[in-house]
Amino acid sequence: MRSLTYFVAVSLDGFIAAEGGRFDMFSMEGDHIDALFAEWPETLPAPALAAAGIAPGCARFDTVLMGWDTFAVGLAHGLQNPYPHLRQVVCSRTRGEAEAGNAVELCRDPTARVRSLKAEPGEPGIWLCGGGRLASALSSEIDALVLKVSPVTLGAGIPLFAEPSALRWTLEGSRSFRSGVVFQHYRRA
Ligand SMILES: NC(=O)c1ccc[n+]([C@@H]2O[C@H](COP(=O)([O-])OP(=O)(O)OC[C@H]3O[C@@H](n4cnc5c(N)ncnc54)[C@H](OP(=O)(O)O)[C@@H]3O)[C@@H](O)[C@H]2O)c1
Repeated sequence: MRSLTYFVAVSLDGFIAAEGGRFDMFSMEGDHIDALFAEWPETLPAPALAAAGIAPGCARFDTVLMGWDTFAVGLAHGLQNPYPHLRQVVCSRTRGEAEAGNAVELCRDPTARVRSLKAEPGEPGIWLCGGGRLASALSSEIDALVLKVSPVTLGAGIPLFAEPSALRWTLEGSRSFRSGVVFQHYRRA
């Protein structure tokens, strides 16, 4: 069974973006970014890969799930097809195909879609990109959590999970970078 991994940058106090959706406090430079390009290239948007001259692999993930507001961050910058190397599933109950464009699949029922994706054959997993509201809706389906924890506190913003969701996790590994970022890998206990 393929698994669903919530792979996300987060502050020390558990926010994935500052108030208003800003995320420039998560440094895009440093040795943790080198590790992303080398080991998680499919989680980088196409323009970043192209600028670095890197071809995306899909070793870890072949599909990405985004909530509408996460997808809209790219849309605001003219990016309708952020991860063309992945199957892109965008969740919304209110938006239509015309707004979403034809590079992505629009999904009304994320839980049912994740279950059907998990049942597909093959190795690569499914990346839950975010945001916090979609993560809440899918919390019962999340098998693994990879937190890119940045050494910053925000005090307020968009939380890792928008709704209270008490889940227990087993730490499988962690890796510290000179940049101060720590990658923490958890599996659902
Ligand atoms: N730090 C990181 O790595 C990272 C990663 C991803 C996102 N982010 C940040 O997170 C922010 C967005 O997060 P967010 O929590 O505000 O929003 P979100 O989860 O990205 O999107 C929320 C929207 O997704 C749709 N949705 C959610 N649950 C659904 C369900 N059960 N069924 C169908 N559609 C559903 C709804 O769209 P409709 O209202 O249209 O129905 C909802 O309004 C952005 O600022 C982004 O930058 C950060």
